[in-house]
Amino acid sequence: MKLLASLSILLAILSNVSSRPLEAPKLSKRDDCIINTSSFGSISSIQKNCKTIVVENLTVPKGKTLDLSSLKEGSTVTFKGKTTFEYKEWKGPLIKISGKKIKVTGKSGHVIDGDGSRWWDGKGGNGGKTKPKFFAAHKMIDSTIEGLNIKNTPVHCFSINNVQNLVISGIVLDIKDGDSNGGHNTDAFDVGSSTGVTIKDSTIYNQDDCLAVNSGNDITFTNNYCSGGHGISIGSVGGRSNNVVDGVSVSDCQIVDSDNGVRIKTVYGATGKVNNVKYENITLKDIIKYGIVIQGDYENGSPTGTPTGGVPITNLTIKNVTGNVKSTGQNIYILVKNASKWTWSNVNVTGASKIKKQCTGIPSGSGASC
Ligand SMILES: *[C@@H]1O[C@H](CO)[C@@H](O)[C@H](O)[C@H]1NC(C)=O
Ligand SMILES: *[C@@H]1O[C@H](CO)[C@@H](O)[C@H](O)[C@H]1NC(C)=O
Ligand SMILES: *[C@@H]1O[C@H](CO)[C@@H](O)[C@H](O)[C@H]1NC(C)=O
Ligand SMILES: *[C@@H]1O[C@H](CO)[C@@H](O)[C@H](O)[C@H]1NC(C)=O
Ligand SMILES: *[C@@H]1O[C@H](CO)[C@@H](O)[C@H](O)[C@H]1NC(C)=O
Ligand SMILES: *[C@@H]1O[C@H](CO)[C@@H](O)[C@H](O)[C@H]1NC(C)=O
Ligand SMILES: *[C@@H]1O[C@H](CO)[C@@H](O)[C@H](O)[C@H]1NC(C)=O
Repeated sequence: MKLLASLSILLAILSNVSSRPLEAPKLSKRDDCIINTSSFGSISSIQKNCKTIVVENLTVPKGKTLDLSSLKEGSTVTFKGKTTFEYKEWKGPLIKISGKKIKVTGKSGHVIDGDGSRWWDGKGGNGGKTKPKFFAAHKMIDSTIEGLNIKNTPVHCFSINNVQNLVISGIVLDIKDGDSNGGHNTDAFDVGSSTGVTIKDSTIYNQDDCLAVNSGNDITFTNNYCSGGHGISIGSVGGRSNNVVDGVSVSDCQIVDSDNGVRIKTVYGATGKVNNVKYENITLKDIIKYGIVIQGDYENGSPTGTPTGGVPITNLTIKNVTGNVKSTGQNIYILVKNASKWTWSNVNVTGASKIKKQCTGIPSGSGASC
């Protein structure tokens, strides 16, 4: 009986093998699909031949990108062990992933360590050493990035551009070391020109925006914890090639020890639009500057103080946003022009001792106030 059973299994396997198309990759062994320090030079052929790729204890050579932008449709990339990067002053990115139906994951115990302190000088992307961007998730279609454990990026972490239907979940991004060592502009997720992006169940410690949406549609940011940065932001919007944000939902997030909580900034004198944005169930704790800030006068570093209406903020829902701002900050600051259709409810941001800057441009009947 046993023999017969194994024989029939063998036959099944053989018939399966013989019916396989001829172009099936001729892999001598599964090891061919490991990208490590010794196989790094074969990264192109590995992508050509493998759909299951493991990045294991890789040190990326200086000035090189872990370039996984020619993955076959349906590929899985798993980070295992420690991924590190040799030092060079350059623009990066250190990691680049593109493709259709791609699944990126990390094995438990793995870490992708940017060792950013080698570049940090307090100037971020605005000067000093040229710092490599970290992770370009560009042109990812119907894909997922799940469970990555990332440390100490030199500057911005995820650049999400030109994607369609990407779900990013369970990310731990820990750049706490940057707080005292000159980490700056360490945005966690920058989203542009993308449709259908979900970022959820993630924990972020950084020194700039937890989320920044410059353009895109159908963006969801939910159940995330953001600490140490600049808040959950739309913008800045304006002055780029794509200046339309339409459809962003931020919900069930905590923002802690950050410069701002909820933030929308549109660029002074620019055109575009910010429509259908909703923040719901947001808890703020010990916010330093503004609990909620919406400003239409943005210019990098120095807002003009005069809002312009070329990037109108319309159909904005703020619901159940509660928590505290430190006494030296301001609970809510709004400086906009041409805004309409706002609905604010259950907003209770407290703690700041006074209104330092008056609010202007609030659509009447919206329920919003300073
Ligand atoms: C890289 O992986 C290959 C295949 O598993 C292995 O033979 C080689 O020793 C590894 N190199 C390093 C540096 O770990
Ligand atoms: C990867 O590095 C870890 C820690 O040094 C080590 O325990 C593990 O054996 C390495 N894996 C391989 C395949 O060399
Ligand atoms: C406002 O936004 C909601 C959902 O975010 C949407 O259902 C509604 O159609 C939008 N209204 C307008 C006028 O765009
Ligand atoms: C408000 O949001 C908090 C989480 O931030 C949630 O626990 C609470 O149930 C929400 N309240 C309502 C009335 O939705
Ligand atoms: C906000 O919280 C309430 C109460 O927990 C929940 O019913 C609602 O679905 C939440 N809203 C979102 C958008 O998650
Ligand atoms: C207000 O926004 C509309 C588009 O909704 C635009 O046509 C108009 O020029 C804007 N007004 C100002 C003063 O910028
Ligand atoms: C707003 O929050 C403060 C501080 O937590 C609390 O004392 C107050 O009762 C809240 N107000 C409302 C209307 O819920």
